[in-house]
Amino acid sequence: MKSISLKEEIDTTRESSLVFGDAIKILRSLPSHSVDHCITDPPYNISGYDHKKKIGWLQSNEVWTKEKNFSKIDAGWDKFSDDDYLSFTKDWLFEVARVVKPNGNIIVFGSYHNIYQIGTILQNLNRKLINSIIWYKRNAFPNVTQRMLCESTEHIIWAVNETKKNAKNWIFNYKKLKEINGGIQMRNMWDIPSTSISEKRHGKHPSQKPVELINRLVVGTSNKGDIIIDPFMGSGTLPVVAQMTGRKFIGIDNNKHYCKLALKRINDSGIASSGFVA
Ligand SMILES: C[S@@+](CC[C@H](N)C(=O)[O-])C[C@H]1O[C@@H](n2cnc3c(N)ncnc32)[C@H](O)[C@@H]1O
Repeated sequence: MKSISLKEEIDTTRESSLVFGDAIKILRSLPSHSVDHCITDPPYNISGYDHKKKIGWLQSNEVWTKEKNFSKIDAGWDKFSDDDYLSFTKDWLFEVARVVKPNGNIIVFGSYHNIYQIGTILQNLNRKLINSIIWYKRNAFPNVTQRMLCESTEHIIWAVNETKKNAKNWIFNYKKLKEINGGIQMRNMWDIPSTSISEKRHGKHPSQKPVELINRLVVGTSNKGDIIIDPFMGSGTLPVVAQMTGRKFIGIDNNKHYCKLALKRINDSGIASSGFVA
């Protein structure tokens, strides 16, 4: 296999690439219909959430980060005004719908803060929605405020890059997912713990997703040899899983530190976690 290096642009979409740069700019440089699928976990715009009042989730997180030394997301890349977030999300989703092939899969992560906007934008783009998946984190931060339910889920929208009328033959590896699920039909509520410390041994990213979670999405909705783009790869979980399962990837992030972390993880062939299936 060709070794992966960090680039600032993409020479060809036929090879795996890790790219340091702005997602929208890089997406705009790619030809239409040049990748098979997109699986991505964009900024949720929760870092600035309720900053002044510090109620609910933020305060709860703060107790855990100060007293228990957990890491939370409070990053510049995750802070937008409401208007800026909406136009940013519209711009990158529009580009993703352009570069992914017709009937390719588009899979996007979010939380209750942003997932409805993402769903609405995909519907306005007239893309066919296939499923929403709930990722249930049984070990999520407890909520100490007693003013709301303890937030323990993230949401994933699975859409097909076609209109509702014309969508057909999208990839869904039903049998593979059934096999992963011990021979039982896979449902859309996935009980997978938050990312383990061992998966963070190359360095920390505040929203690193578990390999097991990304693994289900990759093997369930793509075939070996397919090219999957992740415009917001962070620590590179999508590229890592794509490589381990025989897919190609285009991973983009505008933070060099995270790009280097992704590179380290990709080059560590022993990264597989429990629950991993090729
Ligand atoms: C939610 S994190 C992704 C985490 C990833 N799924 C993982 O497992 O590590 C979103 C990432 O988007 C990156 N990002 C934010 N704005 C960006 C932009 N305009 N272009 C490229 N990357 C961006 C951030 O640096 C951050 O690493």
